[in-house]
Amino acid sequence: MIEFKDYMISDRLGNVCKVLIVGSGKGGVGKSTLTVILGLRLRDIGMKVGILDIDLHGASIPFILGWNTNTTVKAVRGGFKPVEVHGIKIMSLRMFVGDRPTPLRGERKSEVLKYMLSLTIWDSLDYLLVDLPPGMSDELLTLVKYVKGEHVVITLPTKTSVDVTTRYVKFLKSLNSNILAVIVNNLMNVAISDEVLIKGFQEDMPTSNYLVIPYIHDVEEYLLKGVTPKKAVDVIDKIIRA
Ligand SMILES: Nc1ncnc2c1ncn2[C@@H]1O[C@H](COP(=O)(O)OP(=O)(O)O)[C@@H](O)[C@H]1O
Ligand SMILES: [Mg+2]
Repeated sequence: MIEFKDYMISDRLGNVCKVLIVGSGKGGVGKSTLTVILGLRLRDIGMKVGILDIDLHGASIPFILGWNTNTTVKAVRGGFKPVEVHGIKIMSLRMFVGDRPTPLRGERKSEVLKYMLSLTIWDSLDYLLVDLPPGMSDELLTLVKYVKGEHVVITLPTKTSVDVTTRYVKFLKSLNSNILAVIVNNLMNVAISDEVLIKGFQEDMPTSNYLVIPYIHDVEEYLLKGVTPKKAVDVIDKIIRA
């Protein structure tokens, strides 16, 4: 039997052309940063963009984009309109709970996510970007049941991050998900060893799919102001064209 919420979810995403899901095996590797940079670049080239922040414990998209708490999601007939910040529509649990912590367990997280998916009125979007928590989270498991999207996977250029993220890639493949690209985020500004990356991923991804994001000095300042960091433009354009 189809639940009402399930029906609503497909209806709500009916006018969204493309969904990109940004994830990783690991935390702190730049998922939210990449999601925002992708959003800003897509906005720059004239696309209508939304970001759905489903890192329910660590929601950070509103903060990164300098959301002004005076503006918030608007309850309208049938749901909520996302908030627009720097020309990007955003929806996040943070809009509802502010600075309060949100210690939710598995089932509750799935419920919250289903509400977010079924009640957010995006209208028409060229791209919906989804920012995930680390790993094979409840949020990811619920999301992929309802939303067909392409995955952008991100890792640091370290053995540990590649090791954990390789299993994340394997998991996505077991779901027959489409992986658009694997991004190596050089946020520590080190010489990247091909050996680490190629050994780590070679069975799971063709090496031509690796793209490297350089270290970006003051990246948080750029994003707060809604400015796309120039150093990231080349790699972002490659992801968009992939
Ligand atoms: N390419 C980069 N250059 C410099 N700093 C970065 C870069 N990518 C991410 N960071 C910083 O690293 C930290 C973690 O990034 P974040 O996007 O929050 O990771 P995640 O969402 O995976 O937990 C943030 O402080 C962010 O500003
Ligand atoms: Mg994050």
